[in-house]
Amino acid sequence: MTGFVLLPVAIFGLISLKAFGKIRPIFRERGIINAEVTGRLTETLGGVRVIKGFNAEAQEIRIFEAGVNRLFLNVKQSLVTTSMVTSAATLLLGFASAGIMGIGGYLIMNEELTFGDFLAFTLYLGFLIAPIVQMSNIGSQFTEAFAGLDRTEEILNMPLEDEGGTRTLKLDAIDGHVVFDKVSFAYEAGKEVVKEISFNAPAGSVTALVGTSGSGKTTIAGLAASFLNPDSGLITVDGHDLQTISLRSYRSQLGVVLQDDFLFEGTIRQNILFPRPEATEEQLMQAVQAAHVQEFTNRFEDGLDTLIGERGVKLSGGQRQRIAIARAILADPRILILDEATSNLDTESESLIQASLKNLMQGRTTFVIAHRLSTIRQADQILVIEQGHIAEQGRHEELLAKQGRYYQLYTYQARI
Ligand SMILES: Nc1ncnc2c1ncn2[C@@H]1O[C@H](COP(=O)(O)OP(=O)(O)O)[C@@H](O)[C@H]1O
Ligand SMILES: [Mg+2]
Repeated sequence: MTGFVLLPVAIFGLISLKAFGKIRPIFRERGIINAEVTGRLTETLGGVRVIKGFNAEAQEIRIFEAGVNRLFLNVKQSLVTTSMVTSAATLLLGFASAGIMGIGGYLIMNEELTFGDFLAFTLYLGFLIAPIVQMSNIGSQFTEAFAGLDRTEEILNMPLEDEGGTRTLKLDAIDGHVVFDKVSFAYEAGKEVVKEISFNAPAGSVTALVGTSGSGKTTIAGLAASFLNPDSGLITVDGHDLQTISLRSYRSQLGVVLQDDFLFEGTIRQNILFPRPEATEEQLMQAVQAAHVQEFTNRFEDGLDTLIGERGVKLSGGQRQRIAIARAILADPRILILDEATSNLDTESESLIQASLKNLMQGRTTFVIAHRLSTIRQADQILVIEQGHIAEQGRHEELLAKQGRYYQLYTYQARI
């Protein structure tokens, strides 16, 4: 009788081993599909105005439906497999019970087995079989957990930004003397976006980058911020190769204000304080005043404690930018990058902010990218970037007198 039971149990063991091996990749894929579908949904909701504006609801619904359908098929597949394991367990258990009853009944009729022995045997068998049946349930949970573990391992194994062991140099304080020496960079092999650029930005100076869009200005700023590493050439900060300086110590001296500046959900105060949460109220108020944030927060009932984002007020592009500038003023960096930081400002707030930007740039090595040439007229040097090259270099008056590329850009803008 024991032999008769062991056979179905062995078959069941084989089936579940095979089945769980099959569903593990399915569970793993589910994590990926889930991330894709919810990621797209979040973007869709964030860009709902663009979708409405282009009457693209139907198309977005189709994309979402396709994603949800993939998810459904994945769940269906894993459910089918786990159900097969459970039904196989039930079926084999039925076979085993029927067989034991047949053999046991036959033996009892032949008086080779007492009724008591038979009962005892089935009781012990129950104790043995119950955990095996349970294992099929636990097994699918285990498989799901292992698939999750696989994904976690994949993510943990991704290389860290600071890795390589070469970024060991820790700088306590820097002057901010930045030098580019024949720096080249390509996002895709063979397509150089920055080509052998060399320039010198002394500590405390203002370098303006101008040029048509797509010429490589943001890429140069990204190289200076160590968001990107040059493919060839050398960037030095105070004479040290930027690629040897620990990112943490370099970025603690760095401030960035970008065109579409990122604000968190939360209050205006939290958004300004985030690079320096320990700042005093006085330091905060100084930054707020210098960036002319109060001009609009005074109109809000809660002032600086007004919630922004999804659960609070919506701010205009210019207002967001002034908050970002206040944040940079509070952070008090040695090196400052302003990438089209004034492009969202209307003429009125621009004149308000021109002065505060000047305060912000005072004594810091600044890289400023601007469409408005009025922002860069006072720069110590202007680099005119064209297709990744420096086409012209000099101060405003020099470049105007040259009547070259800068002159063209400037007079073109003055006309509009
Ligand atoms: N992440 C990226 N991957 C691939 N190409 C990029 C990426 N970012 C920018 N580029 C390309 O590099 C060139 C320069 O871009 P960018 O530095 O942003 O120009 P700018 O700021 O002067 O408008 C463009 O041709 C752009 O298409
Ligand atoms: Mg750009």
